[in-house]
Amino acid sequence: MTQKRTPSTFICQHCQAQYPKWQGRCTSCQTWHSVAAQTSSNGIRTSLQPWHGAVSEPKLLSEIELASQARVLSADAELNRVLGGGIVPGSLVLIGGEPGIGKSTLLLQVATALPAGNVLYVSGEESQAQIKLRADRLGASCGRCYVLNETDVSHILTQIEQIGPTLVIIDSIQTLCDPNTDSTSGSLTQVRACSAQLLQCAKTRGIPIFLIGHITKEGQIAGPKVLEHMVDTVLQFEGDPHTMYRIVRATKNRFGATSELGIYEMKHDGLHGVDNPSRLSVSERDVPLSGIAVGVSVEGNRSILIELQALVSPAAYGTPQRSATGFDAKRLNMLLAVLEKRAQLRLGTQDVFLNVTGGLTVTDPALDLAACVAVVSSLHNAVVPDQCCFIGEVGLGGETRRVGRAAQRIQEAHKRGLSRVFIAQDTREEAQTKAASTKAVADVVSLLKVLWT
Ligand code: TYD
Ligand code: MG
Repeated sequence: MTQKRTPSTFICQHCQAQYPKWQGRCTSCQTWHSVAAQTSSNGIRTSLQPWHGAVSEPKLLSEIELASQARVLSADAELNRVLGGGIVPGSLVLIGGEPGIGKSTLLLQVATALPAGNVLYVSGEESQAQIKLRADRLGASCGRCYVLNETDVSHILTQIEQIGPTLVIIDSIQTLCDPNTDSTSGSLTQVRACSAQLLQCAKTRGIPIFLIGHITKEGQIAGPKVLEHMVDTVLQFEGDPHTMYRIVRATKNRFGATSELGIYEMKHDGLHGVDNPSRLSVSERDVPLSGIAVGVSVEGNRSILIELQALVSPAAYGTPQRSATGFDAKRLNMLLAVLEKRAQLRLGTQDVFLNVTGGLTVTDPALDLAACVAVVSSLHNAVVPDQCCFIGEVGLGGETRRVGRAAQRIQEAHKRGLSRVFIAQDTREEAQTKAASTKAVADVVSLLKVLWT
């Protein structure tokens, strides 16, 4: 056996804790079956090789030339936005997401629509014919996109040398293997060794490389946390495969902010950027329903209308249920406690469900006020008056607290036809200069009075 020939260390594929002997469970992160043998002579050495070649000399920051760093703008405005303004030459970008979410589709679209230069699309998962079929479905022009079915990283590097592409796409990093590394494809050792070679190629030749990465059941990019350290940018592709909306967000970006979102709609002919993300969540309905309130969340530079739906009903058995989809469950509990204590609402005996519609996940505290209104609306079975929008964080005393970018949020609400904007008191001055119909609210209790008395 290999372990007899070469001394091995055993490494957890999840958290990278090292062990002298094999064990069924990692004592450090408690994951089962994650400890695997790693032959020390190959994998580790490869990944520690410097990417900058043999000798690197120190240079003054002022002397470093940036001319070669001009970003490559892809035809996809949403992707450019998430990357912080286009693709940086020589960058290694990892894009992760669940199977079937649209990773291959997105990158094939980018590959076939790059304004200038050749692209090399390497697939270890689909045949050339399958990729051609997909490209036809996308109505893409295929003139400058080379497709390669290859899993051996050294062959891929040779092809990169020969073609000299402007962009390389690897679908997926888990299918690659380095024949000099003694481990199976998809293992931590292989993924690390292959990525290290691609990283070296990206940096020395200034070619941007996109790596598609599979994610594990827990939603992390499979195996290698180490990969996230190695690459420049990590993009996460999210969305429910059953709905048509998809969101790309950067969880790490060495060349830009991580707050920007790219929002897409999956149609029969591929992914289309969504210009007006507010229509994702807010739905038009003829018959008004109780339990629905609208707020505004700010994601990156864009403000998005968010519809919150609550259902409050008496708990039939034992402990009442509290469940939130797309909204922080702890925050919901806090808001319910505030409503119970400050507005004397009897929520302790009720089941409460809160959903953000459209499959979005929001963390902006400015949605607190809308969440409270949705819950109370459902509790009293009273419809929220027409054209209302609620913007404000709620404190433990039931008081409303200032939110950032108030003017931008109000503007978005007005643009979408919501003329009655209720906003946290502290934000009043900023708000009033912008719109006369904006009402300042000092606390939740007074807001509820204004709405339903
Ligand atoms: P895919 O890009 O293969 O996902 P991944 O690479 O992340 O596993 O996307 C596959 C899904 O996208 C598939 O279920 C069908 C859907 N799809 C469309 O709805 N329209 C299209 O034009 C394409 C190409 C795919
Ligand atoms: Mg795929």
